[in-house]
Amino acid sequence: MLSEPVIEIRHPLMQHKLTLMRSKETTTDNFRRLLREISQMLAYEVTRDLPLENIQIETPVATIDAPAISGKKLCVISILRAGNGILDGMLDLLPNARVGHIGLYRDPETLEPVEYYFKVPEDIADRLVIVVDPMLATGNSAAAAISRLKLRGAVSIKFVCLLAAPEGIKVMQAAHPDVSILTASIDQCLNEHGYIVPGLGDAGDRLFGTK
Ligand code: URA
Repeated sequence: MLSEPVIEIRHPLMQHKLTLMRSKETTTDNFRRLLREISQMLAYEVTRDLPLENIQIETPVATIDAPAISGKKLCVISILRAGNGILDGMLDLLPNARVGHIGLYRDPETLEPVEYYFKVPEDIADRLVIVVDPMLATGNSAAAAISRLKLRGAVSIKFVCLLAAPEGIKVMQAAHPDVSILTASIDQCLNEHGYIVPGLGDAGDRLFGTK
């Protein structure tokens, strides 16, 4: 099966904000704000293909058939905990979306994902599911999360991240060729600790000010 595309958004505003996020000098409050702003732009891009239907409305001047979003309702799934940083910006633009959370931590030895939390909307099979996690590193967590969502009935899934490593993209495309990937940057590689290079460090720690 041919894989769905990997889309790297090369918008100057997004690249500028991403550069600020990457800098180790950037403070927690600025990092959080920048992630929220970039996530709004990612939300804009990931919804680019949503179908429209005309509905009749009255403006103060005339009655018209005007386009409105139709089709499947949306659901945003945050991979905890750093996914919540993207979730906030997504919901700014998609306030009616339902939300789910999947908790996975990376075993420091094996780098394999271990699930500790799973709560998603009942009707996930009827929704367009947007899975969010800032860092697509090994790809193991994202692939495992999406496998769980498919077991719950999700059929229409997109994955959104801030940075993607080529290794993670490969794992995702092998496991879920039906899932498109949208990212602000495809970085160089992973280092021996599983961090994205050049990356921005630990997204969760930088977002929440932990260490
Ligand atoms: N998770 C992170 O937060 N950063 C990385 O570089 C890789 C995984």
